[in-house]
Amino acid sequence: MQKAGLLLGGCARVWKSVRMASSGVTRRNPLENKVALVTASTDGIGFAIARRLAQDGAHVVISSRKQQNVDKAVNILQGEGLSVTGTVCHVGKAEDRERLVAMAVKLHGGIDILVSNAAVNPFFGHLLDATEEVWDKVLNVNVKAAALLIKTVVPEMEKRGGGSVVIVSSIGAFCPFPGLGPYCVSKIALLGLSKNLAIELAPKNIRVNCLAPGLIRTNFSRALWKDKATEDSMKESMHIRRLGEPEECAGIVAFMCSEDASYITGETVVVGGGTPSRL
Ligand SMILES: NC(=O)c1ccc[n+]([C@@H]2O[C@H](COP(=O)([O-])OP(=O)(O)OC[C@H]3O[C@@H](n4cnc5c(N)ncnc54)[C@H](OP(=O)(O)O)[C@@H]3O)[C@@H](O)[C@H]2O)c1
Repeated sequence: MQKAGLLLGGCARVWKSVRMASSGVTRRNPLENKVALVTASTDGIGFAIARRLAQDGAHVVISSRKQQNVDKAVNILQGEGLSVTGTVCHVGKAEDRERLVAMAVKLHGGIDILVSNAAVNPFFGHLLDATEEVWDKVLNVNVKAAALLIKTVVPEMEKRGGGSVVIVSSIGAFCPFPGLGPYCVSKIALLGLSKNLAIELAPKNIRVNCLAPGLIRTNFSRALWKDKATEDSMKESMHIRRLGEPEECAGIVAFMCSEDASYITGETVVVGGGTPSRL
């Protein structure tokens, strides 16, 4: 079992060299010795981002609500030879957020990178039919928890002399999906959160940027691709006529967290296959 893990780890390192060689880039491990927290990272986009940050040299602490999902994801990534640990963190729970930050500091001595990726969408319908409970849940988990987690992480980044935050928004912030009103409003709020924090945190050498994925094939978006007719109608709006894969969101986040992006803050990158998003 350990042998298999070592073998897989070797493969991951070789694959990374091949990837760099084929792109003509000789730099290795752009995130070496950085410590990264990624929320909602046991599946989908968060998992792909966690894997990529670790492949680029970071020590990554992954998290989500369920222990069994954390264990499974940690096992997979450690089996690839990556420096990954994990803990349960429901981002809506203050004690979980604090434990996540404390664990990273205890294990690795500080925090350099935060990817705030968790979101919920408990509602489908006309925006004005959303109940107060729906609004509370969507805004609490998607917006308030992100702001409060960043607040907890910032003092740790300050101790390191700076850091990078990436907030996962959505293309729905630019071009609302019918039926997903409260969710899209929450994702617009995240653009505002990143713009405001970019100003406030620049003097602390902390950059804050956003990722806005288009339609990416994950469990979260299953309703939009579960049958061929729905998937085909979604593809109509994309220049690249296919859904995105979680891995296609990961490299850009690694870039935004790296020194190559040292002069980029308050920006949003859309990864949407050419789905119309803005001018
Ligand atoms: N997929 C898309 O097309 C798409 C498009 C635009 C934006 N996004 C955004 O991308 C992000 C990730 O979505 P995804 O598509 O990758 O979802 P996903 O594949 O369904 O993965 C969701 C992850 O979130 C965890 N999670 C759920 N609720 C959580 C909570 N309250 N606290 C902590 N972890 C939680 C889940 O694990 P547990 O069950 O163990 O908690 C799982 O690891 C979200 O912010 C979403 O809005 C997705």
